[in-house]
Amino acid sequence: MPTNSEITHWDHHHHWHAFTQMAEYGPLVIERAEGVWLYDIEGNRYLDGVSSLWCNLLGHGHPRINEAIRQQLDSVAHSTSLGMGNRTTALLAKRLADIAPGDLQHVFFCSDGSSVNEVALKMAFQYWRQCEEPRPQKTKYLALGQAYHGDTLGSASVGGIARFHEIFEPLLFDVVRLPAPDPRTLPVGVDKPQAAEYFLAQLEAVLVERHEEIAAFILEPLIQGAAGMLFHPAGYLHGVRELTTKYHVLLIADEIVTGFGRTGKMFACDHEDVVPDILCLGKSITGGYLPLSAAITHPEIYNAFLGDAASGRAFHHGHTYGGNPLAAAAALATIDLLEEGQVVEKIGERAGQLGSWLDRLAAHPHVGATRQHGMIAAVELTTTQGEEEPFPPEVRIAYRVCREALRRGVWLRPLGDVLVIMPPLSITVDELDLLGDTLLQSIDTVTAEMSADA
Ligand SMILES: Cc1ncc(COP(=O)(O)O)c(C=O)c1O
Repeated sequence: MPTNSEITHWDHHHHWHAFTQMAEYGPLVIERAEGVWLYDIEGNRYLDGVSSLWCNLLGHGHPRINEAIRQQLDSVAHSTSLGMGNRTTALLAKRLADIAPGDLQHVFFCSDGSSVNEVALKMAFQYWRQCEEPRPQKTKYLALGQAYHGDTLGSASVGGIARFHEIFEPLLFDVVRLPAPDPRTLPVGVDKPQAAEYFLAQLEAVLVERHEEIAAFILEPLIQGAAGMLFHPAGYLHGVRELTTKYHVLLIADEIVTGFGRTGKMFACDHEDVVPDILCLGKSITGGYLPLSAAITHPEIYNAFLGDAASGRAFHHGHTYGGNPLAAAAALATIDLLEEGQVVEKIGERAGQLGSWLDRLAAHPHVGATRQHGMIAAVELTTTQGEEEPFPPEVRIAYRVCREALRRGVWLRPLGDVLVIMPPLSITVDELDLLGDTLLQSIDTVTAEMSADA
């Protein structure tokens, strides 16, 4: 039996961690988890304040999800989706078709958010070559500044956050880029109530000029997550749908983060009654238990891929584990739990409590802004309260606050100077109070230390 120090060493030396500077990585090795709590190999527990990177929906170790996976294991752990199906994944496809907006009913499965966004991009491209009135000149994509759609080369190409992908720039394809519709960037003379109109006018100007070459507009509806939880103005998404329809550009909604209830509706698109052409889901689809993602589309796109084998019209894409039945079983159990417990409908109460904590945090001398949509929240740290005067990057203010929170038993992961709060929806009143209080105290401690150092 290896010792804890051996495990820690192997985790540090052999396990190359994602988006982690290994030279400064201080190992934190989790052994088990229950509810919102992660337990490390030393027995210390940490409140999972970011749902294990925005995916754990209903808590760790949920007996119903665990049991669904176990039962599936007794039937079949994996069978391919290339040329055959399996019972559980068929059930899930039907279930997703039932809950997806509008007539979205054909589900292509992958394992991660990045890969499913690649699928959506390629599906859009191939569609325009095979639809009834082909437009093969549509080979470009429209995407937003500050967008994040994943780390594979296609999804990174449509991403718009330099610090993630700048180094790979020579490998990425060109994208038609619009500035993020961030109400804070409005020019003088345009007030916040006109924000959607202003950004939609920008979109229309681009579409008028370039719609003939644009296959699809990919965006994170309502909230650009990795940008630091940047919220779009109300009405923007609806307007995007109207304009993309008008100019024959497909709309890809990347709901990898927003899907499955966190915003207070099942999908972010539901807030503005939008039916995209392709809806991309991932992360919480399995409750955050197993890797699964899905691109769901409507018959008009799907039918363009039908023909005999020799026609070459089949979709040219596939992943070995796409639609894995163990993951599908976890997803079915998750959807059951969401529906039975009316989890999404009941989100208001906990979101209200989170809102109260954000009000308290907003009063802190080093909090510039707070943002919230349902159970997704962000706290922006700035040198002075309410001012958008950032700390110098070398201070790594949010990183330091997260280290302090960890010392106090709360696990968070920052985005630049932004602290993200996104616990599992199952968090209790007391646990959320603990999270809010720890965050407040951690900001206090770190900023007080900095003042003392200055
Ligand atoms: C909006 C969005 N799309 C796609 C992805 C990529 O998902 P994955 O990490 O599962 O590849 C992420 C990851 O955070 C995301 O936030």
